[in-house]
Amino acid sequence: MHDLTEFICERIASLCALAREEVRQALTRPPRLDMGDLAFPCFPLAKQRKKAPPVIARELAEEFAADFAAQGIRCEAAGPYLNFRFDHCMLAGRLLAQALAGSLLSGAGQGRTVVIDYSSPNIAKPFSMGHLRSTSIGNALSHIYAALGWKVARVNHLGDWGTQFGKLIVAFRLWGDRARLANEGIPYLMELYVRVNDEAKARPELDEEARAAFKQLEDGDTAALELWKIFREVSLAEFERIYAILGVAFDSYAGESFYNDRIEAAIAVLERAGLLIRSEGALVVAAGEPDAPEKDAAPPCMIRKSDGASTYAARDLAAIFYRWQEYAFDRLLYVVGSPQALHFKQVFAVLKKLDLAYADRCVHIPFGQVLLNGEMMSTRKGNVIFLEDVIKEAETRALAKMRENSESSDTACEAEIARNLAVSSIIFYDLKNGRIKDVDFNWEEILNPHGETGIYLQYAHARIHGIMRKYDERMSEPSAAIINSPPRVTEEESWPLFDAIARFQEKLALAAEHNEPSVIARFLLDLASAFSAWYRVHRVINEDNPVLSRERMGVVLAVRAVLAQGLRLLGITPLEKM
Ligand code: ARG
Repeated sequence: MHDLTEFICERIASLCALAREEVRQALTRPPRLDMGDLAFPCFPLAKQRKKAPPVIARELAEEFAADFAAQGIRCEAAGPYLNFRFDHCMLAGRLLAQALAGSLLSGAGQGRTVVIDYSSPNIAKPFSMGHLRSTSIGNALSHIYAALGWKVARVNHLGDWGTQFGKLIVAFRLWGDRARLANEGIPYLMELYVRVNDEAKARPELDEEARAAFKQLEDGDTAALELWKIFREVSLAEFERIYAILGVAFDSYAGESFYNDRIEAAIAVLERAGLLIRSEGALVVAAGEPDAPEKDAAPPCMIRKSDGASTYAARDLAAIFYRWQEYAFDRLLYVVGSPQALHFKQVFAVLKKLDLAYADRCVHIPFGQVLLNGEMMSTRKGNVIFLEDVIKEAETRALAKMRENSESSDTACEAEIARNLAVSSIIFYDLKNGRIKDVDFNWEEILNPHGETGIYLQYAHARIHGIMRKYDERMSEPSAAIINSPPRVTEEESWPLFDAIARFQEKLALAAEHNEPSVIARFLLDLASAFSAWYRVHRVINEDNPVLSRERMGVVLAVRAVLAQGLRLLGITPLEKM
């Protein structure tokens, strides 16, 4: 439909010597559906044509008639308005064929590159709900950009370097047990980390030792590196297990440690540009604009600490230089929570001071927190939820719901479905609202089959597969054959479905423009509810009327194709049965 609107704008603009944008702004929806799909008020042309608007409307209707009819648009004058009525059946037929052929989305010729830095958890700590948000938003964005034809580099900037690993090394040297580490993994590392922090309160020399240990790491000390490597491997193994459950993959795990031997070169760049300030033994860059108003001033960006250790910001700068060489990106997105807004502001300010052309291509994509029953989660309060526990809980609940509704005997299959439902529901819950909003974790809402949930969409998708199975049983032709020879659409009532489907491309573009997967999530909810409304009053399978059955089955298949494609964009695997 978007292309029809464009067509109309284009024609009116060129015939009436108006700007296309002006025409687009003026177009309205007629007050009633039976009056048409779009209306153009002719008042602004009165002066130009020196005629009354109703006369102009009649003239234009005549002028456009033939051309527009070829596009499936009828023009009619209604008082001072020029109304456009779309040939819904013709358009629906066209959209149906495109949906079945999988050609609704066209990303042809973009040829641009986006680097997406997402998930990026810190090693030696459990994968939290906070990192889930970065993971699901970043993953959805990666699919959205790819569908638009961008080249996408998915980068996991693992938090695997920094002073805290000095602490962990000290703790491990004091109390470490390799067998326990191998058996227990991350929770054991957490335990050591908590212990060393506790003991350092009474023994400040531990902090000194930790700084020395991180210095050893940065200097390439073999023994320190050997320990660190084990921490990293143990952590990565756990993360990869979780990524497999979520269906997420990365092109690169070049995390913070990867940049260790590029820090000096990055600092040299800053030095040459005359940006480095020595401050109490540390190196900083003043990040504020020289004459920016006070409120916009970012505090100085710390590049090297007084003990010689590199900083998070220094590693991020080195990473940007590297990524530019490696990918020559058109966009570099950082999908990281809002608390790091200042960090990115500082880092980007340094890029601007360096006068780098790609400074403006780097964008922080912030998102809100995960709340637990309306409250902030914090490590200190001990009410952190771990993703893995959440998935397990969701699985148990999904399974219970499934058993309420049917008594399937195939438990392996059941478990697989429950796992999928758990993951789909959690991901969808995370993505359905604007990303900047906090996500308040609430089981009833997440797994409500009648709410705006992943389970609701999966149910809609699986129900369509159920209709297909029934169609294959009852009708002489298999439903799959419809895909290769799509039916004509003759029923006007199918239009609301195609009206929704027609917006897919536009929504995709919008989602990428604002880096906002919720646009796709909302689109899918609208489509699914239009489908339920339609399905309630349209019987699909009717042996006595195979022609109409075939047409309706075609409509159903088109909806299925779009639902499945949209779910995949969000990182959800559509279910055929539940
Ligand atoms: N590891 C960081 C954290 O868990 C996120 C890293 C984000 N990416 C970046 N390039 N700084 O908070």
